[in-house]
Amino acid sequence: MMGALTNFALDGRMGLSQQDQWKKVAGEAAAMLVENGMVVGLGTGSTASFAIAAIGRRVAQEGLRILGIPTSDRTAEQARSEKIPLTTFAEQTEIDLTIDGADELLPGPLYLIKGHGGALLREKIVASASKRMAVVADDTKLVTRLGEFVSVPVEVVPFGWQVTARRLTELGGKPTLRLGTDQNPYLTDGGHYILNCAFGAIDDPKETAHHLDHVVGLIEHGLFLKFATEAFIAGANGVQVLKREK
Ligand code: A5P
Repeated sequence: MMGALTNFALDGRMGLSQQDQWKKVAGEAAAMLVENGMVVGLGTGSTASFAIAAIGRRVAQEGLRILGIPTSDRTAEQARSEKIPLTTFAEQTEIDLTIDGADELLPGPLYLIKGHGGALLREKIVASASKRMAVVADDTKLVTRLGEFVSVPVEVVPFGWQVTARRLTELGGKPTLRLGTDQNPYLTDGGHYILNCAFGAIDDPKETAHHLDHVVGLIEHGLFLKFATEAFIAGANGVQVLKREK
């Protein structure tokens, strides 16, 4: 179900591209969900980063008292610079609200592809521990079928990754190894590799996820099904709030 358009003005004053302005208003809108006393999952990526900056401002200006659990080392670094107190799963095993971005989002069930920022494993652990997950994105991320525009990143153990890649090829995933700027394999925060799997438009995301769940050597995949409860999607007309439909 699509909620009413909310009234977050687009801000052209910071020299942001139009897409970045949309990301910013989406992130800022979701940051308003955060309440005193919450444990908050802090997502990774450019849109989540706008939400974290807005939460940081609320901590500084309103004295908002929260504890954050970051989904990546770079998010932890940003949160510390924004003076957002952090906690860990050693102290909190349940998260009240997570705010995170997405690479593609399917309205209705709010299925997602995530992980092109390289943080999908921690993102999925945090999402799975969350009572509520708000996705923040601009409306270029909306699709009618997952996989239309982006591949599905999967995080794999470096040992024998070629064997894992062969199995992914058998599943129709056309895997390619993600490389860093130095042309060596990109290493996640957990020290793993990422294979980007180009499935094309996916007819049955649950079935694809089920197959991926059973690939030896694959630690986690970027199909996030049944985690998001709502989405803040910004575009030319402001922010629309999508709720998950059963
Ligand atoms: C990080 O691993 C990803 O899941 C990001 O949340 C996703 O790539 C969206 O990033 P942007 O907000 O930068 O588009």
